Amino acid sequence: MMNSKVYYNSISKTYKAQSNERLSYLNAIDDHVIETMKNTSNLHYLDIGSGDGRRALKIANSLNTAELSLLDDSDGMLNLLDDKEVKIHETSYFDFNTNKKYDLITCLWNVIGHFPSKKHRLEFFRKAEKMLTKRGILIFDVNNRLNIAHYGSENVMKNLIAERSNTEDVGWFSIGDKNVGTKVYIHSPFDISEYLKNTSLHLLKTLYVNYETGKIEKTFFEGQLLYVIGKKDE
Ligand SMILES: C[S@@+](CC[C@H](N)C(=O)[O-])C[C@H]1O[C@@H](n2cnc3c(N)ncnc32)[C@H](O)[C@@H]1O
Repeated sequence: MMNSKVYYNSISKTYKAQSNERLSYLNAIDDHVIETMKNTSNLHYLDIGSGDGRRALKIANSLNTAELSLLDDSDGMLNLLDDKEVKIHETSYFDFNTNKKYDLITCLWNVIGHFPSKKHRLEFFRKAEKMLTKRGILIFDVNNRLNIAHYGSENVMKNLIAERSNTEDVGWFSIGDKNVGTKVYIHSPFDISEYLKNTSLHLLKTLYVNYETGKIEKTFFEGQLLYVIGKKDE
């Protein structure tokens, strides 16, 4: 199995076609980001795992954005970017060091599922906490292993049974094939509380978004997980 960087470099040429197949879902998420931030002016915006940058550029152009920064560790993905005017950080999030603070940080389409371990996922939130301004908002979506509407009741039943073993292994799945494939972590709706524990981050909104249509659903059995996170007053 490849690590995320090698995997995304290998699939970058077909990435546009892959994301076009998920357009209703991706557009719905973008609309929520725009709706959440529409009244904030002079935004300093960082998108982590931006891939071809299409979505972050669209979001930034729909908001009152002062500066957009894109970050990705796959040069293959970043090379797809049309706009060369934006700030680009070609690095892994875990090697990214900055004193700059952002009003909006996004991490869209299961980017967090590509981080190599739970330790990395926890570090993601500790780091994001430091990079957010007081009014800052973190928005991310991840795939949900209890999403019956997408994965089917048989698979979700297996996942629920595995859940009881309470180990890190439960959420890891393979995508692609043995020649071009990688491991990806598919979340449970219950992971979020551990991520935010002992941080100044707090959950403002959780949405369950249908992976086929982008419609907002009532339960986590029907959609992927979209989170809007703010900062508590210190
Ligand atoms: C599913 S794609 C999503 C791309 C984009 N956010 C979108 O919605 O079209 C996941 C992206 O995360 C990037 N990625 C994964 N792990 C990363 C890391 N540790 N640091 C930076 N980027 C990472 C990959 O290179 C890839 O471009």
